[in-house]
Amino acid sequence: MSGRIIETRDLRKTFEFGDVVVHALRGISVEVPTGQFVAIIGKSGSGKSTFMNILGCLDRPSSGTYRLEGRDISDRSADERAELRSEQIGFVFQAFNLIPRTSALENVELPLVYGGVSRSQQHIRGLEALDRVGLAHRADHHPSQLSGGEQQRVAIARALVNQPRLLLADEPTGNLDTSTSGEIMQIISELNRDQGITVVLVTHEPEIAAYADRVLTFRDGEIIADAAQLQPLPTSPAPPAKAEMSRDVAEESA
Ligand SMILES: Nc1ncnc2c1ncn2[C@@H]1O[C@H](COP(=O)(O)OP(=O)(O)OP(=O)(O)O)[C@@H](O)[C@H]1O
Ligand SMILES: [Mg+2]
Repeated sequence: MSGRIIETRDLRKTFEFGDVVVHALRGISVEVPTGQFVAIIGKSGSGKSTFMNILGCLDRPSSGTYRLEGRDISDRSADERAELRSEQIGFVFQAFNLIPRTSALENVELPLVYGGVSRSQQHIRGLEALDRVGLAHRADHHPSQLSGGEQQRVAIARALVNQPRLLLADEPTGNLDTSTSGEIMQIISELNRDQGITVVLVTHEPEIAAYADRVLTFRDGEIIADAAQLQPLPTSPAPPAKAEMSRDVAEESA
C-alpha cells in the first residue's frame, strides 16, 4: 500500500507531577509517506523520544490525532496498541534491551512466542531475521558474548521478525563507535531501500542523519525545520544497468 503510513495532527503531550507541568510535545503535525526514511534531530529534552513512543504505540498523546496507515489510534486501549505494535512496528532503542543469558536466536524469536506461531516457524523466522543482519552464525551466543554492534544487530533482527512496515529507532547508534555505527546504518538503509520499510530514526549525529531522505528538527516540543535530503545515486551495478536499458530503448525506437 502506498500513501501515508504516519499522519499526526497537532499532537501534544504533557507530563504532570504535582505542580510541575512539562509540555514535551506542543503540536506536532507531520505526514510520512510509506517507504520514506526520516531522521529526527534536536537537543536533549526537545521531545524526540516522547514523539517516538507515541508513534510506536508505547504511549498516548494528551491531545491531537495519530493515524497509522490511515487508522486513528490516538485513543486505542493499551491492548489494542500492543497488538498494532506487534503487527506493524519494529522498535530499536539505544540500549539494546536484549534479555541476558538467553541466546541471540531466542531473543529474536521472542515477539513470535505470543503470536500463535509454531516452534518450528519461530526458529525459521528467527534465523531468517538474524541472517538479514548478518548474524546467523551467532544464533547461539548470549548477549554478553556479542559486541555492541552485534547486540544492536540482534535487536534489529528482533524488531524485524514480525515483518513490520514501520521501523522506529531511537538513537540506535548512541552506544556504538563510528565504524560500528556505519554498519548499523548500512543495515537500516538497506531495509528501507530494498524492502520498503519506512524508517523513523532519532539521532544526535549529523553523519547518521545524512542517511535519511528527510530530516525533522525538534525544539521545545515543536518541529522547527523539515528538510528533504538528496541521496547519492546507488553505486554499481545500477548505473550500467540503466545505461543498457536506455540503449535497448534507443534500439527499439530506432
Ligand atoms: N515520563 C515522563 N515524565 C515526566 N516528564 C517526562 C517524561 N518523559 C519525558 N519527559 C520530559 O519531556 C521532555 C521531552 O523528553 P524526551 O525524552 O522526549 O526528550 P528527547 O528529545 O528524547 O531528549 P534526549 O535527546 O535527551 O533523549 C523533557 O523535558 C523530559 O524531561
Ligand atoms: Mg530521547
